[in-house]
Amino acid sequence: LSLHFYILPHSLCLPPYLPPPQQSDMNSFLWTVRREPPHPPSYLFGTIHVPYTRVWDFIPDSSKRAFHRSSNVFFELDLTDPLTISKLTSCQLLPHGENLQTLLPRDLYRRLKRHLDYVKHMMPYWMTADQRGRGLYADYLFNAIAGNWERKRPVWVMLMVNSLTEWDVRSRGTPVLDLFLAQEAERMGKTTGAVERVEEQCHPLNGLNFSQVLFALNQTLLQHEGVRAGSLQGSYTTEDLITHYNCGDLSSIIFNHDTSQLPHFINSTLPAHDRTTAQQIDSYFRQELIYKRNERMARRVSALLQRNPTQTYFFAFGAGNRGLDTGEG
Ligand SMILES: *[C@@H]1O[C@H](CO)[C@@H](O)[C@H](O)[C@H]1NC(C)=O
Ligand SMILES: *[C@@H]1O[C@H](CO)[C@@H](O)[C@H](O)[C@H]1NC(C)=O
Ligand SMILES: *[C@@H]1O[C@H](CO)[C@@H](O)[C@H](O)[C@H]1NC(C)=O
Repeated sequence: LSLHFYILPHSLCLPPYLPPPQQSDMNSFLWTVRREPPHPPSYLFGTIHVPYTRVWDFIPDSSKRAFHRSSNVFFELDLTDPLTISKLTSCQLLPHGENLQTLLPRDLYRRLKRHLDYVKHMMPYWMTADQRGRGLYADYLFNAIAGNWERKRPVWVMLMVNSLTEWDVRSRGTPVLDLFLAQEAERMGKTTGAVERVEEQCHPLNGLNFSQVLFALNQTLLQHEGVRAGSLQGSYTTEDLITHYNCGDLSSIIFNHDTSQLPHFINSTLPAHDRTTAQQIDSYFRQELIYKRNERMARRVSALLQRNPTQTYFFAFGAGNRGLDTGEG
């Protein structure tokens, strides 16, 4: 595995973060997997789950050429496959006959409902003129993201609440980088595929126990209520993630907790008992969603390459954040 990885000169990594004029100054998250000649190389590319327009100009031509040369493009999940989307949706639902109103403690349910009513009310103000110009309506967008929330498992409602910030709403309607690559691959007649099954992404999240989920939902609501009340700054983690990605800062993307798109609850001011719960949830997520998945995906990549030595593959996987795609585009 050889690494094509350039760190931008530091001066280029200061606001306003314009793409560097020289290709050689651009970072890339592209690795080449060389194989015995005459077999062609394959590629591993780190993507990011944000609107592709925010990062596209920072991706160097060498990465784009590798994509064009590859006749097979593989993702974690194949998001262009309608079956993937419908499986993701149903995996997030409560068992038949259950709903959040009966499941959650009454106070937590009320706070959740109040928060979602607030989001629904704010949605038209958060949307941009550009989004409206493209025919995106606030009601439609709210329903697409949160429509069926009472039927969702609490852990997925917690992730949904996290993705209902002004920032995230404003960036809806533009495909995220991984989806954009999948659409391009389809358009160009490439073979697309996935190395994970929906259940493998979904079940670990459903595996947190009820008290952990209540804790996570409560903390998430507290954060968002704080933002609403103006006592807490909105979190700019996605914006930071984009900056790190565009600056080629791999270690921040992978290792810095602040840039992970998973919510983080560890807060030094939490009481000791709550801090323990936060740490347990955090290490559970790391174990299940990062380490175990990495190993499984590596085994599948290796098997594909060994079975098909004459084919060129382009594997596009999340660079650090494991984009927990909630399936609503
Ligand atoms: C949930 O899991 C945590 C950590 O494994 C454990 O300490 C706690 O007792 C569990 N709670 C329930 C209700 O099972
Ligand atoms: C939510 O968290 C706060 C602060 O840690 C705590 O006082 C409250 O009892 C929690 N509520 C629920 C429903 O767990
Ligand atoms: C940490 O928790 C305290 C008490 O719940 C809260 O006031 C504070 O804003 C939190 N800090 C962050 C960064 O979430």
